[in-house]
Amino acid sequence: HDCSRTCGSILSPDLLSWSVCTDDVSGSSAEYPDRVSMMEGRLQSQEDEITLLKSSLADALRRLRLHDQLIPLLKQQIIAGGWPTIRPQLYSFNIIVSRKLSSSSALDSPRHPATRYCARPVERDCGHGMGWLACLSRSCLTLFFSLSHWLTGQSIKMFIRGRPITMYVPSNIQNYEDLRMEPPVEKLELDWVYGYRGRDCRANLYLLSSGEAVYFIACVVVLYHINNRTQRHYRKHTDCVRCLTIHPDKVRVASGQTAGVDKDGKPLQPYVHIWDSSTLITLQQIGLGTFERGVGSVAFSFADAGAFLCVIDDSNEHMLSVWDCAKGTKHTEVKSTNEAVFAVEFNPSDSTNIITCGKSHIYFWTLSAGSLTKKQGIFGKYKKPKFIQCFVFSLTGDVLTGDSEGNILTWGKSPGDVKTLGKGAKETFQIMRQTRAHDGSVFTLCMLQGGALLSGGGKDRKIIRWSADLAPERECEVKDVCVRAYVNGEEVLVGTTRNAILRGTFSDGFVAIVQGHVDEMWGLATHPSQDVFLTCGHDRQVCVWNTEEHKLDWCTTLEEYGLCADFCPNGAVVSVGLSTGRWLVLDLQTKEVISDYTDGNEQLSVMRYSPDGSFLAVGSHDNFIYVYNVTESGRRYSRYGKCNGHSSFITHLDWSKDGKYIMSNSGDYEILYWDVAGGCKLLRNRYESKDREWASYTCVLGFHVMGVWLEGSDGTDINALCRSHSERLVAVADDFCKVHLFQYPCPKPKAPNHSYEGHGSHVTNVRFTHCDSHLLSMGGKDTCILQWEVKRAGTGDGGDRLHSASFTSSPEP
Ligand SMILES: *[C@@H]1O[C@H](CO)[C@@H](O)[C@H](O)[C@H]1NC(C)=O
Ligand SMILES: *[C@@H]1O[C@H](CO)[C@@H](O)[C@H](O)[C@H]1NC(C)=O
Ligand SMILES: *[C@@H]1O[C@H](CO)[C@@H](O)[C@H](O)[C@H]1NC(C)=O
Repeated sequence: HDCSRTCGSILSPDLLSWSVCTDDVSGSSAEYPDRVSMMEGRLQSQEDEITLLKSSLADALRRLRLHDQLIPLLKQQIIAGGWPTIRPQLYSFNIIVSRKLSSSSALDSPRHPATRYCARPVERDCGHGMGWLACLSRSCLTLFFSLSHWLTGQSIKMFIRGRPITMYVPSNIQNYEDLRMEPPVEKLELDWVYGYRGRDCRANLYLLSSGEAVYFIACVVVLYHINNRTQRHYRKHTDCVRCLTIHPDKVRVASGQTAGVDKDGKPLQPYVHIWDSSTLITLQQIGLGTFERGVGSVAFSFADAGAFLCVIDDSNEHMLSVWDCAKGTKHTEVKSTNEAVFAVEFNPSDSTNIITCGKSHIYFWTLSAGSLTKKQGIFGKYKKPKFIQCFVFSLTGDVLTGDSEGNILTWGKSPGDVKTLGKGAKETFQIMRQTRAHDGSVFTLCMLQGGALLSGGGKDRKIIRWSADLAPERECEVKDVCVRAYVNGEEVLVGTTRNAILRGTFSDGFVAIVQGHVDEMWGLATHPSQDVFLTCGHDRQVCVWNTEEHKLDWCTTLEEYGLCADFCPNGAVVSVGLSTGRWLVLDLQTKEVISDYTDGNEQLSVMRYSPDGSFLAVGSHDNFIYVYNVTESGRRYSRYGKCNGHSSFITHLDWSKDGKYIMSNSGDYEILYWDVAGGCKLLRNRYESKDREWASYTCVLGFHVMGVWLEGSDGTDINALCRSHSERLVAVADDFCKVHLFQYPCPKPKAPNHSYEGHGSHVTNVRFTHCDSHLLSMGGKDTCILQWEVKRAGTGDGGDRLHSASFTSSPEP
């Protein structure tokens, strides 16, 4: 029971001692009325425990095999001089002690407390990190010497999915127990947001009176000053923003979000924020507890200067609700339809009149006496389109809709058909005119001054200007399908389904002012000496960006999609690993593919050049790391060797500073070390690598980053991490939309950290820029790249002081 005193008493010749015994279970039948079923229960629980003990034993045996070459050495040592090399604290760490279990078990009686035994990870360890704790009967003690630890000194175990991962404590840390972690002095500040959500959202691009375009991606609403090329960000949303509208004053903004889930999968409540775009202050939070799943559309009323806000949520019934903007109270609410709803607007001249459209419908709502009544638009002799995508009010009060048939329909009110329907017949909304506009869907309509109209098409990728009487006047082809147009004088802003925002005029054409990926992204690499980074993703695009100018430098589309990338240390070329085992080397100047290789036929997960650029390591899902000689400044590659030993796919790898060794992680949470210079050999004794210095640190499993893992983590909770070049910080990309900043090294669990929100999906990668001035993070499916400025609080001295303080060790007793 007392770890410090029971150790060292057993050392059998094979160095592994294992003994299990239980209490005498005999007792009077009076004490145990249902002895058989109890024994059955007991047997079952013993079987469970034995399974656990077996797995511990298997783990020990695995290590035994790994270290069998060391056993003779230890024997010699013991024969020669007893225990000279083994420090007392090591004994205790490696012992499984018996401990009484809770006495709630039916088997426990006053006479036989805790007759069950079990093995499980310990919460309270015996001095050094974690181990396995076997709970045995009171009268029995099992000592279990884990050989690797014995032979190798201090180690720490962490558990992922019940799997123990052993990490060796570097020798510059004398006293792991006394290490104290501080939060990093540095903080992150959101500097720039790359991307625009146009792929699956509409009506989400407006121009404010300040000259800023307002749009959103992930959880961030971006205010982008087009001429000044500056950004501000509204960041009060806790999950992806889905819709946006601006107030008639062109200052206030309403934005609605999806519900999302918290870390434990519990659904959160969606809401709409009304906020002031000049101060970024939230004025109202609307609908918390009312909306379900998310908010699909929002609209301000115009006739009364924006007194009301209309909201449609994402519940099955698509609840339509009207809110008092000043008070934030609900005016009225009604089920709209079970079909998808795409847009809602108030009639600009009459706030009691609201229109919604969506899958095969357009509804005309009337608000009277606090309740909403609906009238369906009647298609009559016209073909009912599958989707009505958008609508606008013309200056004459008609409603114009754009639909999936490529038509613009003009709707008007007809008096009740008294002839056929009798005296009580009510007025109806009917199609007055159908105008052929585009091939494929009409995705957006936008009113211009003087009654002219702008339409954006699907398949034909055209923007057309129409006169007030719907005669085509001008047209212009843009690269993408546009989903939103906004006109400011002559100038048109267009949001596209390829997540780009274009700006231009009919006479001069259009240029992209915002660009982004359109599918899940994983590959991220920063340039070794310039303010440049590269991204790649499932959209098959490889994009090179400039962090200083905040823009896309260039982009190329590959045949397969890229998952990982690394710049050659000379900065002239970059290699990109693809989904098929193929990898390409691109010249950054000419943008051309200069080398094209294939290793295996599974996806590649990591590319990493050695620090001097003489080797390239390619980590694959086929469990191998392929190593190449690199010559001619990164232009020639020849296979040097293959690291063969992982039993699962490679997830991360790093080179040692001397460029001779590799540390790698795999899908089954293994940490392995490789002697590359010596022929890509697996280093069987992992302890020997404990003091090795790493040129980069991106492995998510390792002593130096152990503290970034939360207790009870699933092994996939952290997708990527990255040490800063200063070796003071480690940034972490987690599976819960967050970016964390820790002090490096971070070897203690529950390490303090700063955490940052903004992404709307699992964060797939993080990288510091070459001089650590910025951190880049990318959220896989949210197609958003966030650029964070690394802010040092106060002077750098404070940081140094804390940094070294964390690693001060007390003298060994
Ligand atoms: C844009 O730049 C002008 C001139 O430098 C400045 O007066 C204005 O405040 C800037 N606007 C924003 C929103 O940054
Ligand atoms: C690859 O690099 C190793 C180690 O530097 C060297 O011994 C070997 O000759 C190189 N092979 C080729 C083909 O360049
Ligand atoms: C980060 O810090 C917070 C607050 O200090 C803490 O709750 C959390 O467990 C830490 N670790 C991670 C990975 O979030």
